Amino acid sequence: MLIAGNWKMNLKYEDILKFKDILTDLKLDNQVEMAIFPQFPLLYSAKEYLSNYNIEIGAQACSSELKGAFTGDVSVEIISDIGCKYCIVGHSERRMFHNETNGFIKKASNLLLSKNIIPIICVGESEEIKNKKNTNQFIISQINECVPDNISSNLVIAYEPLWAIGTGVIPDYEEIFNVHAVIMNELSYIENLRVIYGGSVNVENCSKIFELNNVHGALIGGSSLKFKDFLAIYKSAVKQII
Ligand code: PGA
Repeated sequence: MLIAGNWKMNLKYEDILKFKDILTDLKLDNQVEMAIFPQFPLLYSAKEYLSNYNIEIGAQACSSELKGAFTGDVSVEIISDIGCKYCIVGHSERRMFHNETNGFIKKASNLLLSKNIIPIICVGESEEIKNKKNTNQFIISQINECVPDNISSNLVIAYEPLWAIGTGVIPDYEEIFNVHAVIMNELSYIENLRVIYGGSVNVENCSKIFELNNVHGALIGGSSLKFKDFLAIYKSAVKQII
């Protein structure tokens, strides 16, 4: 399982140290990975301070180009140099505010794979699509347009329904199970594929989500900023393994 904390545009340098302090009596289970995704300028410090604790570090986004005149963008080369294991690609906020398209996501994912960074590709339907009962069809087309063609391993898909992000509302557990099954089926040729759920995961709902046997972890926004909650969610994932 993968428990990933997407800090978005929150928290500062001093919070990395506070996060480190709270880890002292945490026993990481080797079947449940913990990863955090701080803002770019914090990645290096996060790597430096947290690597002793076996916490993985990831970037929240990347450019689809390797280098050049792309002011403000960040290359996968730098993300790789810092030692990030993961990079989120196509988060709905990037799709919405930075026009990241499925084509962009595919290109960026290819670059990430070429640098041995595991892409966490985000997919998810809007409320309108859900209400029209077109979720499965929509997710299948997102998957087909975003996932690199020749990929055989090293991929995480985050299923994040747009209407569940930051709203406190989550799908029925059965709905999560069904969409994860669709994704697993579509990408059954990928070895060790992990499909994680994201959108309003919290201390109260996480154990029921982790009970679903095709949920391989969670991408957590708001609750990852409250470190005690994030750790409690991690422990709930560990309990599910035992
Ligand atoms: P949330 O965010 O947990 O605050 O809903 C999840 C995400 O956007 O990845």
